[in-house]
Amino acid sequence: MDLPKDNSRTAPERLIVREERPDDHDPVDAIVRAAFGGAGEADLVRALRADGDAEIALVATLDDNVVGHIMLSRMRSEIAALGLAPLSVSPSLERRGIGSRLVEAALEKVRAAGTWQAVFLLGDPSYYRRFGFSRDAARPFKSRYQSPHFMALLLTEQPVPADLPIEYAPAFDALT
Ligand SMILES: CC(C)(COP(=O)(O)OP(=O)(O)OC[C@H]1O[C@@H](n2cnc3c(N)ncnc32)[C@H](O)[C@@H]1OP(=O)(O)O)[C@@H](O)C(=O)NCCC(=O)NCCS
Repeated sequence: MDLPKDNSRTAPERLIVREERPDDHDPVDAIVRAAFGGAGEADLVRALRADGDAEIALVATLDDNVVGHIMLSRMRSEIAALGLAPLSVSPSLERRGIGSRLVEAALEKVRAAGTWQAVFLLGDPSYYRRFGFSRDAARPFKSRYQSPHFMALLLTEQPVPADLPIEYAPAFDALT
């Protein structure tokens, strides 16, 4: 699908971000495969749903076609934490703000729930910093995912004990 060629980074007004429905599963599969160039992340999405670990799943649609997807899943930790992954945008529609709209909508839901203390992700800091994620917030946690790409957004004012173990949902173990 093509959009008018302009320099706007703003997602077009006809972009709709809404909750994923069962009839989105196949189009979502296609978008995730296209975005990541393989089946790994699409399999992850299916496994997270099947395991009951998918907490938030949103799609971005243009004229009823799915063009983007985001999933947040329950992590294993003493704090109530979600892992943001994967985030996928149709390759032909990148850099138009669709990914940003999905992240912002997902974080709005997380905050509205009022029960989550943190969101973690593995991603490019130059992209995710703009949404409030930081490397510093993730560093004190004990995780096998610790790396320069492991970031967190803390939603609690309570101090978090150092070295608190944090793990992604088991479905992530299959991701190579
Ligand atoms: C990453 C991704 C979701 C971004 O979606 P998008 O709709 O293109 O992003 P937006 O339009 O909201 O934001 C564009 C900005 O992100 C930057 N950006 C896009 N893809 C990026 C990437 N892979 N790494 C770092 N920055 C990226 C652009 O440079 C642009 O930055 P600028 O505004 O400072 O110029 C999309 O490129 C994608 O699906 N990539 C493949 C899958 C992936 O890597 N997902 C993320 C890891 S879970």
